[in-house]
Amino acid sequence: MVTVTIDGVEHQAEIGERLIDLINRAGTPLSQVCYHPQLGPIQTCDTCIVEIDGQLVRACATTLSSDVEVTTTSPQADAARRQAFDRILGNHMLYCTVCDNNNGNCVVHNTTKLLGVEHQEIPFRPKPYEVDYTNPFYRYDPDQCILCGRCVEACQNLQVNETLSINWEDPHPRVLWDGGSTIGESSCVSCGHCISVCPCNALMEKSMLGYAGFFTALPKPALDGMIDVVKSLEPETGYSAILQVSETESVMREHRVQRTKTVCTYCGVGCSFDVWTKDRHILKVAPLDGPTNGVSTCVKGKFGWDFVNSPDRLTKPLIREGDKFREASWEEALSLVARRFSEIKAKSGPDSIAFISSSKCTNEESYLMQKLARAIIGTHNVDNCSRYCQSPATAGLFRTVGYGGDSGSITDIEKAKLVIIIGSNTAESHPVLATRVKRAHKLHGQKLIVSDLRENEMARRADLFLHPKPRTDFVWLSAISRYLLDNGLADQKFLDQHVNGLDAYRKSLEPFTMEVASQMCGLSVETLKRVAHMIVEAGSVCILWAMGVTQQSNGSDTSTAISNLLLVSGNYMRPGTGAYPLRGHNNVQGASDHGSMPNFFPGYQSVDDPEIRARFESAWNAKMPTSKGLDNHQMVDAVHEGKLKCMYLIGEEMAIVDSDANYVQEAFSMLDFFVVQDIFFSTTCRFADVVLPACPSLEKEGTFTSTERRIQRLYQVLEPLEGTQPDWRIIQDVANRLGAGWNYQHPSEIYSEIASVAPLYAGASYERLEGFKSLQWPVAEDGTDQPLLYTKEFAFPDGKAILYPLRWTPPLQQADEEFDLHLNNGRLLEHFHEGNLTYRVAGIREKTPDTFVEVSSELAEARGIQSGTWVQLTSRYGQLRVRALITDRVKGTELYMPMNSVEAPVNLLTSSNADPVTNTPAYKEAVVRMEVLAEVGESPLPRNNHRFGHPTPQRGVEVERKWKRADYHPPNGHLVQIQTK
Ligand code: SF4
Ligand code: SF4
Ligand code: SF4
Ligand code: FES
Repeated sequence: MVTVTIDGVEHQAEIGERLIDLINRAGTPLSQVCYHPQLGPIQTCDTCIVEIDGQLVRACATTLSSDVEVTTTSPQADAARRQAFDRILGNHMLYCTVCDNNNGNCVVHNTTKLLGVEHQEIPFRPKPYEVDYTNPFYRYDPDQCILCGRCVEACQNLQVNETLSINWEDPHPRVLWDGGSTIGESSCVSCGHCISVCPCNALMEKSMLGYAGFFTALPKPALDGMIDVVKSLEPETGYSAILQVSETESVMREHRVQRTKTVCTYCGVGCSFDVWTKDRHILKVAPLDGPTNGVSTCVKGKFGWDFVNSPDRLTKPLIREGDKFREASWEEALSLVARRFSEIKAKSGPDSIAFISSSKCTNEESYLMQKLARAIIGTHNVDNCSRYCQSPATAGLFRTVGYGGDSGSITDIEKAKLVIIIGSNTAESHPVLATRVKRAHKLHGQKLIVSDLRENEMARRADLFLHPKPRTDFVWLSAISRYLLDNGLADQKFLDQHVNGLDAYRKSLEPFTMEVASQMCGLSVETLKRVAHMIVEAGSVCILWAMGVTQQSNGSDTSTAISNLLLVSGNYMRPGTGAYPLRGHNNVQGASDHGSMPNFFPGYQSVDDPEIRARFESAWNAKMPTSKGLDNHQMVDAVHEGKLKCMYLIGEEMAIVDSDANYVQEAFSMLDFFVVQDIFFSTTCRFADVVLPACPSLEKEGTFTSTERRIQRLYQVLEPLEGTQPDWRIIQDVANRLGAGWNYQHPSEIYSEIASVAPLYAGASYERLEGFKSLQWPVAEDGTDQPLLYTKEFAFPDGKAILYPLRWTPPLQQADEEFDLHLNNGRLLEHFHEGNLTYRVAGIREKTPDTFVEVSSELAEARGIQSGTWVQLTSRYGQLRVRALITDRVKGTELYMPMNSVEAPVNLLTSSNADPVTNTPAYKEAVVRMEVLAEVGESPLPRNNHRFGHPTPQRGVEVERKWKRADYHPPNGHLVQIQTK
């Protein structure tokens, strides 16, 4: 610790703390335009100058290393700050009253006020550039840009998309996209980082423009007239009088603009943010305090919300009549559901009914869904879509370390010296998590190994990219474990202290020599040895994996092999280490955690265990079956076999996201009674007997659990659209019509019940999760959570992990003469899964209007295909027509198809083959043949898609280039200490 005296008052600070953070912590007012704590010192504005020992320094760039005396109020420092800010005003016209950014948080406005600026010395000078409106979501106004560089820093070093720069050498510097492209044609991925950190109105969401203020919707000539009037007042009245007017207008806005915290509804990263709304209009998404994401978002979280107000939202229950549906009242629809459930239960027994919960719904809803199945109907036939992606990872972790969750937090991934990504297109599927890896790799020397069939963005950034033969990750992982053990490179101390089963595991590794692995995987022995030595040398390793691993017929085994390798190399139980299966949906972790699984009560308590079952029977006052129910894969088979008659499915597009879609759809059409609850009339709804209109996350309260086991609250942003209801209310209504007698008035009451029956959440409560607070399970009764899952022991009775012996099993499908091409599939950054939500976002649709199949340039040449050529893909299970996109991301005879299509869903081609441990479909083991059709269309990706852009990587804003300008001179003439990062 050091003692820092600020304006005569002593403060304690940690060595290494930034002076500006201490000044802010101490509550000393100090202007600071370019500084943002999440970006670090940028040093472009010079408005934070203070005096230390008679010298002027930038507070943002000063780190504390010894006791020091700081003066913020000295005349020199004050003059320097004013001079610096005056230069800023030369780049920005103050027209706050008619500005959509006049919402109390504009840094330029607030600094003008803080410094008491009345008149500016350097007059405003417009820049010779047009406003750029070419991005569907935001615009850049060069005239208002103060060149602070926050946006550049965020794009280069936080998002690491490396699109933005400033042309410091130009007579009229401005922010550039790809060095001078329009925004619309640049590599910008519309993540919104730049807009979220812009301290003024230079970068603004288009959804704000004309909507936020009382006077901002005026036609431009009228607006310009008002601005002229305001400017003409300034010489006489000074800025303070003008600011008073704008502040009154800003306060008036508070009454009609709501800011409500929510958690993103898309992927499992768990970004949280405030949503600004005016009635049902979403003004903007403002990320700032999210425990996972801070100011970060991706395009879906920042801009992907139009679907909420889509005109085709379901607003009335629908009842099937023959081949058609008719609208019905809630009363009629719910009575029908209850009557048919009762009849089918009476006739065919409780196990003839099954329930599919949703990984988009809240924890509370997942809990009620399984409680309805178990306690009211009397069946364990309940599941959720985690089986389609996550269950193998969970199984691998259950086998080896005890809990089926990430072993640390995203901050651990950031800290790791080496990150290994296997079968995950992280930059597109978990974008904000990927930014942390990209940043650590770019700025902090983190090493990166990527194993994937496709050379995705992370692969391109990696120090080592492995392209093994399809489905062979298991082999090279096992070979590396063996190599470490054979060569004395394993962490023997860790193994002795914390791990059981070494001998049996070692024996199971016998077949996996480096040579065998090299031959089976198509990777050289040298490459494999390099991986092994990188792991040993790193000292702290995190392994991230996703559906490229889990959606294979050996998904559980490969997940186990990953965990085994982490154990052998001692990469558990420390910050910066561990296993990170990247959860796909926003609440796929929570749906399983809360018991929507056929074998577990909430909190992974086995339904087979008599003691646990007795506890739940007593808590719920119900009798329940003694053995597990059907999973969703088995449910489909059971319908075909005539054993399952009735289903209740909420918020899942199972008809096209389950594999072998034709087989699944056939099953749905065979059901005696099918209830589907959704916000849109999905493909699955087509097979329903009753459709119930539910609410999206913005219209309800509850909690989600993200990939890092983080439980977060979402608050109701909008009233439920008329005619719709939150899922928890609908489930309760169905249950009560079946005699449940539930009386939950708010999700918090459901959550209290969850905490009382599941020790994993014993101490979790709405109070402890208030606002942006979060908890990472397990949560002890006193509220202590566990960001790092294993610190002293693993989750087994003796506290030791288990090295789990494994055998190689060959793939269930391989390319042959008839089906000669391997077909891989996955997500696209802009769309979520099949696109039911994201196709309803106009800007996303404009940039990525359709799906496609990626074809390698070699294969394209051999078959005479170009981007836009229509091809027909045929597998043993179905066929579809799709346009080709020629790319160097795939190689040889490997194809890749993103999932974003309702018309041509890739699952028409995938099989019902599954991982035998979890029944997770082997989506990634598809083989097809490709016929080239005569038609050639447009490229399926428009030229203005970011993938055609040309990023301009640099080390950040590169302020040194500004300091070299002939017209730059330190404020007040003698700024002394120019510290760089
Ligand atoms: S990628 Fe685009 S939206 Fe994201 S920070 Fe860069 S310029 Fe801004
Ligand atoms: S556009 Fe960028 S450089 Fe300009 S004011 Fe906004 S954050 Fe600063
Ligand atoms: S990274 Fe995931 S959670 Fe975050 S904003 Fe994007 S989709 Fe939402
Ligand atoms: S806050 Fe801009 S230079 Fe310190």
